[in-house]
Amino acid sequence: MNFWQQHQSDNIGKILLDENTIQQRVSELAKEITEDYVRMGADELVTVGILRGSVLFLSDLIRRIELPVDLDFMAVSSYGGSTTSSGEVRIMKDLSHRIQGRHVLIVEDIVDTGRTLQFLKNLLGTRQPASLKICTLLDKPSRRLVDMEADYVGFEVPDEFVVGYGLDFDDAWRQLPYIGVLKPEAYGK
Ligand code: PRP
Repeated sequence: MNFWQQHQSDNIGKILLDENTIQQRVSELAKEITEDYVRMGADELVTVGILRGSVLFLSDLIRRIELPVDLDFMAVSSYGGSTTSSGEVRIMKDLSHRIQGRHVLIVEDIVDTGRTLQFLKNLLGTRQPASLKICTLLDKPSRRLVDMEADYVGFEVPDEFVVGYGLDFDDAWRQLPYIGVLKPEAYGK
């Protein structure tokens, strides 16, 4: 085992979603999104990736969407360095482009309490997009504190500390091609 393999084996308790399972689901989501937006009469869509967790999912997703995509990003802060949400949402980076009259798809890695997406949906809704939908790779409904459902969900996951494929703990593990569950000792529980 090399260093990186050993490091994963020391910290990742189990693999929840392997690479093939994720990639297959991303293809299904892209197909569903393409079909829906074509049906809606959209000739393009603006994907709004929420930094930084959505980046891996978003880059795989847009490569399989068969419509012109304008790739934009927002950064908001919610968790800080802790494993529980503070409930505070602040904009760190706003969109680069105007979305008025355009079809907008917010892309997230995970919906947890739902506060981040509630905030973003309200905010972007005020800018009069033609449509505003949400796509999330993971959904943790057991943690929900506000009424918020995504239009497209990759996988529903249990209330475990998941990392990989964009999701981090203390800014590590985002690069994993799979989603794993962190061992409790790895986050100091
Ligand atoms: C995570 C995740 C969502 C948000 C979900 O982001 O990417 O944006 O928390 O939580 P909520 O449903 O409870 O609001 P985080 O703030 O950890 O930033 P990151 O994407 O840079 O990891």
